Amino acid sequence: MIPTREECLKLMGKYGMLENIISHSLEVAKVALFISSELNKRGQRIDLGLVEAASLLHDLTKTECLKTKEDHARTGSQLLRGMGYERIGEIVAQHIWLGATGDPLKVTEEEVVNYSDKRVMHDRFVSLEERFSDLKERYGFNQKAMDYLERLQKEIYGIENKIFFILQFDPNHLQPL
Ligand SMILES: [Fe+2]
Repeated sequence: MIPTREECLKLMGKYGMLENIISHSLEVAKVALFISSELNKRGQRIDLGLVEAASLLHDLTKTECLKTKEDHARTGSQLLRGMGYERIGEIVAQHIWLGATGDPLKVTEEEVVNYSDKRVMHDRFVSLEERFSDLKERYGFNQKAMDYLERLQKEIYGIENKIFFILQFDPNHLQPL
């Protein structure tokens, strides 16, 4: 079961997402849909409806978690699974960390949403380099935090290589309209 765009927008309102997190999610959905349709033109079989809904809802509980300090990937995933959106829940659970490395020839909805989230800083489309230097500036206050960001960065460069090996163009030439 996949909610429509309208249903996603309603949920975003219902759960009181902050305006800036809504703008971020709208931009992530735009980028993720663009990358997915380019990948599908090159033989991938990404479910566009699923990518759009998961992108719109990936930070559904983030506003709440800013107060509770809970892990919003986990609480968002639980909330969505509880509504019957099992696949969306799986994707949201992996939007920060992917965990397992998948099939090198097949791009998953999890990978597209995770990657697109890392290419959108606030509501602006940027390179991974720019996104990570901002993250390090904002959150890299000690060595442990820096190591965490370094590991995250390494994982996402692997995904970028996989996606752009299939797309056959430079990630920095990507221009989602
Ligand atoms: Fe998030």
